[in-house]
Amino acid sequence: MFTNTISRPQRTLPLDLFAAIENLKKELNAVILAHYYQDPDIQDIADFIGDSLQLARAAAQTNADVIVFAGVHFMAETAKILNPDKLVLLPDLDAGCSLADSCPADQFAAFKAAHPDHLVISYINCSAEIKAMSDIICTSSNAVKIVEQIPQHQQIIFAPDRNLGRYVMQQTGRDMVLWQGSCIVHETFSERKIVELKTTHPQAEAIAHPECETSILRHANYIGSTAALLNYSQHSPSQEFIVATEPGIIHQMQKLAPNKQFIPAPPENNCNCNECPFMRLNTLEKLYLSMKNRTPEITMSEEIRRAALKPMQRMLEMSV
Ligand code: 13P
Ligand code: SF4
Repeated sequence: MFTNTISRPQRTLPLDLFAAIENLKKELNAVILAHYYQDPDIQDIADFIGDSLQLARAAAQTNADVIVFAGVHFMAETAKILNPDKLVLLPDLDAGCSLADSCPADQFAAFKAAHPDHLVISYINCSAEIKAMSDIICTSSNAVKIVEQIPQHQQIIFAPDRNLGRYVMQQTGRDMVLWQGSCIVHETFSERKIVELKTTHPQAEAIAHPECETSILRHANYIGSTAALLNYSQHSPSQEFIVATEPGIIHQMQKLAPNKQFIPAPPENNCNCNECPFMRLNTLEKLYLSMKNRTPEITMSEEIRRAALKPMQRMLEMSV
């Protein structure tokens, strides 16, 4: 009798994906961590939703055997850096990040060598190789706090986001050498259209992520990470908000404050380019298949992982 010993990856989908994913969670002892920019269905089935810092903390604390990361590659890589012995799955390996891609490791090594006396602070939106070359990692929610803890005489390289870097310089009064990277999503918002919206919705508050350009941030009533924007929108007495970040966050904003109105900040062109094309590669179907087939898995060399862990640990210590 012919027996096929090669197990083929499953491609067929069950009718009730939500129930099937719940069953797989139990079977694998898995936890699903999702970023606020994920599709609403994924946010609804996640065990934990958060911004980059909250997700890194959740990854550092989980007892699960398997981490299913519904986010982009650098976020899943961060979970692996913190959990070398766990299986870390990313539903679509092509879910990258334009900001992380704007800082290639060989070019950054040369940039760092040209500034030998500088401390390297890297935004978490970068590859494990860049983290391994950094002294401290930060996220959009702790960048100001971390830079404020660095002695005044110490020169700093800040990479890879020039917009967050500029914002941190303005908030702290520190001069820093900036790597000229950026996010395609946060550089797409139209200043003209936001000003128009503020005129037609005079009661609305504009809230913005610090990855936006200065021309957008100067119109913001409040600036913060995704988690900070969510928190602000709940507690502010305002009833209307113009939201200058990826509109996936509006799902949680609307859930937590159903009577308030959230207007996504529009891009310059009539496109969907305010949606992160990388984040949106993950779907409920791919999430299910990744758990069923236990792939695609995040891997990296132990040498890079150990080197990348140190600045991650410094960040966690400096942002308690
Ligand atoms: P947060 O730190 O707000 O999660 O930002 C992550 C991100 O990718 C923003 O584009
Ligand atoms: Fe990267 Fe921008 Fe997408 Fe965030 S929104 S994951 S910074 S491309």
